[in-house]
Amino acid sequence: MRVSVGKWTKHKLMSKDERLSSYLPDTQYLTRSSLNLMLDKYNQVMVKPCFGYQGLGIIQISSLSDEDFELHIGHRKIIVNGKENIYDYLKENHFPKKRQRYIVQQRIPLATINNNPFDIRVMVQRKKNSLEWTVTGKLAKVAANNFVVTNAAKAIVSVEYAIGISLVNNEKMKDIVSDLEEISLLIAGQLANSYTNKRVYGIDLGIDVEGKVWIIEANLTPAVSMFKFLNDGSYETINAYKRG
Ligand SMILES: Nc1ncnc2c1ncn2[C@@H]1O[C@H](COP(=O)(O)OP(=O)(O)O)[C@@H](O)[C@H]1O
Ligand SMILES: [Mg+2]
Repeated sequence: MRVSVGKWTKHKLMSKDERLSSYLPDTQYLTRSSLNLMLDKYNQVMVKPCFGYQGLGIIQISSLSDEDFELHIGHRKIIVNGKENIYDYLKENHFPKKRQRYIVQQRIPLATINNNPFDIRVMVQRKKNSLEWTVTGKLAKVAANNFVVTNAAKAIVSVEYAIGISLVNNEKMKDIVSDLEEISLLIAGQLANSYTNKRVYGIDLGIDVEGKVWIIEANLTPAVSMFKFLNDGSYETINAYKRG
């Protein structure tokens, strides 16, 4: 049976693994009532299209007060009055006319560099005829000014550099890096049960302001070109794994 590659399906597959569930942000399939429930629970949530990519269509919603909510879309911010009006506002102005599915997710307070949030991409690959997963590259993507998504990255830097300049508690560096790798390998192993032919995963992970690692999403067709900017040999390793 073919398994959907949407964000909601992948979230459910990952949450089946107990070891992964504690790293997954609280996530619901978006409905009028799940949006209201999530806004009661969290000050900030992200609404994301199940089949979106490159950060397109992602909306950050922040409670400013009981009545006022800020919707951050691309580089634009809009205020909506009344929690119960947000769903209608989105439906009217942002959701495409053709049926689209969304998830709503707790926003992770991502660590920042110069006030811009960053997140991590970890490449996990296996060679042809091998079942062993290997981390072949990792980097940090820093969001452009005024964006809540890092896809249109302002900078690509090494993970160690990003952690080093953003987190006060530098002693945690080694633990964070090994968490990032361990979680990525677990995700590949778990998703491999469903996407049996895949040999590459591009895992997006967040590190919050306290140094805790969170799972943002697992990409099934990750781009490789951003690794060119690192000059740490990962670009070559990733391509070697792709070939064989
Ligand atoms: N729950 C979240 N908390 C904080 N930032 C998020 C969250 N979800 C997504 N983002 C930001 O938006 C970016 C794009 O989200 P992602 O789920 O990777 O969708 P896409 O498929 O569009 O890349 C992430 O890389 C991250 O910067
Ligand atoms: Mg992504």
